[in-house]
Amino acid sequence: MNRFKGKEIQALLTKEQIEKRVKELGAEITHAYRDIKDPLILVGVLKGSVLFMADLCRAIDMPIELEFMGVSSYGEATKSSGAVQITLDLTRPIENRHVLFVEDIVDTGLTAKYLYGNMRTREPASLRLCSLLEKPSKSKGEVKVDFLGFTIPDEFVIGYGLDLAGVYRNLPYVGVLGSDV
Ligand code: IMP
Repeated sequence: MNRFKGKEIQALLTKEQIEKRVKELGAEITHAYRDIKDPLILVGVLKGSVLFMADLCRAIDMPIELEFMGVSSYGEATKSSGAVQITLDLTRPIENRHVLFVEDIVDTGLTAKYLYGNMRTREPASLRLCSLLEKPSKSKGEVKVDFLGFTIPDEFVIGYGLDLAGVYRNLPYVGVLGSDV
């Protein structure tokens, strides 16, 4: 059991497990896009994907470009509001380019579904989704995670980019908050 600011945190995925899986995902992605001509565009969904993105992009052995999108998410609560809003957009067109979304976690899938719909109108050559985590118990609609790190139980997790009310993103592992100390 780890402690952070007086709270107990149960590690769900250790730093070592994450490092190993991110390397494997990088190899999978490198293989999947081995024949494309222009650099692959990785689009990180802020803010949760930042730590994953930083490690994943270094595990991909091919030319890439980095972009970020900002979307509204849970805010201060631990339940999805269902509302998705773009707060920061791409800096350049993606028409005829291969685009890979990088998400921290797919929970209800609402965020990914919204982003897919929005991106398709910009006519990329291909659009796929890479997520570090997925909670399997929810209905995902049309969202398919093409490159998945881990399937986790339906619990609220923190760390490695994931926050609770803006805090805990800097934990080097993914954990679940325990009881107060
Ligand atoms: P979805 O739209 O329900 O798939 O949720 C996507 C977003 O909700 C993620 O990018 C996270 O920002 C947030 N989220 C979902 N589950 C968790 C969690 O367990 N911990 C922290 N954030 C979460």
